[in-house]
Amino acid sequence: MIPYGKQWVDKKDRQAVVAALQGDWLTQGPTVKKFEERMARYCAIPFALAVSSGTAALHLAYLGAGISAGDEVITTPLTFAATSNALLYIDAKPVFADINPDTLTIDPKQIERKLTKKTKAIAVVDFAGHPCDYRQIMAFAKRHNLLVIADGAHALGSEYNGARVGSIADVTTFSFHPVKIITTGEGGMLVTKDRAIYERAALLRHHGMIKKPRQGGWYYEIHEPGFNYRVTDLQCALGLSQLKKLPAFIKKRRAIVAIYNKAFENIPELITPPEQPWAVSAWHLYVIQLRLEGLRCNRRVIFDELQRKGICRQQAGERGVSRFGDESRLEKRRDSHPAASSRPRLPRHGQVHGRPRLLDAGLRRKSEIHAVVEAGLRLPRRRRDLALWAH
Ligand SMILES: Cc1ncc(COP(=O)(O)O)c(C=O)c1O
Repeated sequence: MIPYGKQWVDKKDRQAVVAALQGDWLTQGPTVKKFEERMARYCAIPFALAVSSGTAALHLAYLGAGISAGDEVITTPLTFAATSNALLYIDAKPVFADINPDTLTIDPKQIERKLTKKTKAIAVVDFAGHPCDYRQIMAFAKRHNLLVIADGAHALGSEYNGARVGSIADVTTFSFHPVKIITTGEGGMLVTKDRAIYERAALLRHHGMIKKPRQGGWYYEIHEPGFNYRVTDLQCALGLSQLKKLPAFIKKRRAIVAIYNKAFENIPELITPPEQPWAVSAWHLYVIQLRLEGLRCNRRVIFDELQRKGICRQQAGERGVSRFGDESRLEKRRDSHPAASSRPRLPRHGQVHGRPRLLDAGLRRKSEIHAVVEAGLRLPRRRRDLALWAH
């Protein structure tokens, strides 16, 4: 089975973790600080805070930005659930604005339609690695005194008009889960240019605890109920080592994308993923869209067939986000974001990166993906009835 995603961890990574293990600190030591400094430098931004996951980074970003119960945050339906889950943790309301099909990211024009007196911020996602249209979004946010929080979990190393994701929004978060572009096992990072956001997030990462050395090295106060969102030195040692390889990882992903684009260019039922001229995507995902109206089956049949052929695939995120949870807290109507709900009828299977063995296997399978789609074209119409998800 070709996995949906697989980390690339080499001897140098392992040596870095062993060296950290031999040091005096297992957690919250010098390696955490060093990883934060390197990430801040990479993103060309003053502050970086390493935390236990991308979800924790989002939670702290929202809290650091002062979002609280009852506030509305305009966000995208095409993402993983964590982007809006972390808003629900604090009883804020995610308000979904549709995506722009040309970027698969939030459509600036749709944001405007969702603005109310309760809107406090915009939470964008650089979906699949493609940066959103930051110029328009930042200008709109400035006009309306809103903060922009970017969920950059897919986009470490992506660029918008030459600026790295991480350097543009008021706060950006990253994830280092093994399927992401670099990994720390589990882990995340919040980066910001705003000292106040950073300081509040840092306070909440460690239980809301403030030390007061003047009153004694042993003295601390808990100012509010914070969390344990700390990350270990072992994880950050891996992160530091992985960060060195990031340019090579992105280069390899881009090479694979070029091969896939070529392979799929003449299948009218497939739409290959976009990359605007102003964008450089780090290509966390390679998202294929199916023109279902041209197929004689629905996506369930295609998904199952890919699985049968040993190609692990995933649907894109919209189903998991905007149609869960409490009706009163979430906008759930399908027609509230038609582009997002009509787009992602797709397997995403782009996580073939790094390891040459895996790469070769992935490329061999591209012809099988062709075969599956072509089989979809030939299937008798009654096969539609078998599917659980009819479109
Ligand atoms: C867009 C997006 N945001 C946030 C997350 C959450 O990251 P983590 O798994 O590190 O909590 C993910 C994870 O898949 C993601 O895809």
